[in-house]
This record gives sequence, C-alpha cells and structure tokens, in this order.
Amino acid sequence: MELAALEKQLRTLQTESIAKIGAAETSAALDELGSSLLGKRGALTDLLRGIGALSAEDRPKIGAIANEVRAAIDAALSDRRGAAGAAELSALIAAESTDPTAPGPLPQLGSLHPIPETIAAIARIMASFGFTVAEGQEVEDDVTNFQLLNIPEDHPSRDLWDTLYLREPGRLLRTHTSPGQIRTMRAVQPPIRVILPGRCFRYEAVDASHGFEFHQVEGLLVDRGTTLADLKGILDELARGLFGPSTRTRFRPGYYPFTEPSVAVDVSWGGAKDGWMTILGAGMVHPIVLENGGIDPETHQGFAFGLGVERIAMLRHEIPDLRAFLENDLRMLRGLR
Ligand code: DAH
Repeated sequence: MELAALEKQLRTLQTESIAKIGAAETSAALDELGSSLLGKRGALTDLLRGIGALSAEDRPKIGAIANEVRAAIDAALSDRRGAAGAAELSALIAAESTDPTAPGPLPQLGSLHPIPETIAAIARIMASFGFTVAEGQEVEDDVTNFQLLNIPEDHPSRDLWDTLYLREPGRLLRTHTSPGQIRTMRAVQPPIRVILPGRCFRYEAVDASHGFEFHQVEGLLVDRGTTLADLKGILDELARGLFGPSTRTRFRPGYYPFTEPSVAVDVSWGGAKDGWMTILGAGMVHPIVLENGGIDPETHQGFAFGLGVERIAMLRHEIPDLRAFLENDLRMLRGLR
C-alpha cells in the first residue's frame, strides 16, 4: 500500500464521517457513529491495518495524519453532541413542564334542581313577612289529611283528591300539604306564620301537567283580627317576588272544605305569553279547622294557601313538561344555570 493511497482513504473517511455526523439528529445516533468510526472495530482502526505494509519511513507520517483525522472527527462529534443535547433538553422541558400561569381546569359546577330552587325562592319571600319553614309528613293518616280539615268520610268533596291509600287502615300518602296546618296549630300557639313545603301524592294518570308525585308549599297565618285583605296583600307580594314587579293577580271565588271563603289566585305578568295562570288555592281558615287545631275562632282568625311548586317552576323556567323534573336529565339542569 502506498502512502498516498492510504492518505487519500483517510481524508475521505474524515469528510464522509463529518458529513454523517452533521446529519445525525440524536445523541443516541451520535454515540453509534462514534463507535462505528473511532471504536476498536471502527472504520479508522480498519484503515490503519494497512499501515504494516508501509515503509518504516512512511509509518510516522500516516500516524500523524491518522491523529489529525481522529481529532477532526472527535471535534465534529462533540460539537454535534452539544447541539443535539440542547435540542433534546428543550424538547423535554416543553413536554414535561407545567405552566403555573395557565388557567386551571374548570370544575363541574352543580346547580339546584328547579323544585328545591323554587321552594327556596318562595321561602325567601315569605321570610320577609316573618314566615318560618316547617315540614309535615309524607305518610299521613286519613284523620289529619281529610277529617280534621273538614272533609268527612263519605263526603263528596273527597273526590277532589285521588288518594293513594296504604295497606295499613287509615294510612295514606298525603294528597296535599294542608294536614301540616293541623299539626302546626296543635304544636304552636298563635301568632303563627309558617310555610310547609313538601312532596304530595295522588292517584293520577301522568301527563305533561299532572304527576302522581308533586310538590306543594302550604302557607298558614293565624293571629287576632286576620282578614282576607291580609291574605291578598301577602299573596300579591309573593306573586311579584316570583314573577317580577309588574305581575298582576286575580282573586276568583273558589271552593275548599277547609277555608271559608275560598279563593283561586291567578297571575299574569304580561309579555309574549299574556294570559292568566292559576297558581294557588287559598282562603280564610274555616272555624271548624281552627277548632280542630285547638284554636278559638272567636279570638283568632287565619288564612291559608297552597301552591303547586311544579307549576311555578315551569312558569319561571319555561319548562313545558312536568315529567322533566323527575327525569334527572342533566342537560335540563345545565340549561337553567
Ligand atoms: N290543599 C289544596 C289542594 O291540594 C290547596 C289549598 C287550597 C291549600 C286552599 C290551602 C287553601 O291551604 O287554603 O288542592
């Protein structure tokens, strides 16, 4: 082997190696190149096997050239390693680091179901007139649900309530919150100002405006000298609080066995859907009912009202079908927020 030929091979190895190193992208690729070029079995060692065929005089020359080639390849490797390492580090930082200034993930916010929300709205308004909240019981007895409210057994007015009776004789699911009037009057002395929200049950065919399970809020005020004007004043305010300040009310004669006189109350609040909607029944507590509650009708009078919560929630939130309240469809609840 001639000196010139070997030198040429070495220089070629140098340029080719530097080109390969320049094209390598990762430190792993550079490590591999390093050992395939400069390692014990690498390309440079391979070439230098030819050195034995040279004259004693040429050998040191080739040795010097080989050292230059090794140094040049080494320098190219470490340059490129530095650049690749920096790029890898910044990619790693970009992939793994968190940005503490970024907005956090939004938690799922809950909201009240329209029924308890409406009950709370009613309770808030009534609280401003001194009414507190109490609760009756869902399983009632016939006596309290009907008889003490001046609805005798076998009286035709019982037909107003399609009742779900329980197996135990005399027990039923309350058809309205009115039995809470009796329980309240028997438990507390007048003056009484209380509202009684709760679930009621009726044997009804279910459709968009009737359910076998629904909610009422009962109101009861008992005091000296209470009149129908007091009832009207408070119900006007309740309607305005629920439906807006320009709401009008209409009191029509009604019939309930436990009030005398009895009224049905309609509201209208103008706008696109003008018209009258009946939202509650009310009246002056019947003297017999006061007596059944342990109150002397000569000294005390009272008014009472009962309103349907579903009806009011439907009007407030423009929900067309009362069955939606029982379906637990989260889309409805989210739409109300
Ligand atoms: N309890 C009646 C019903 O469910 C509603 C009602 C009407 C309640 C008049 C009252 C009232 O307190 O005075 O149909």
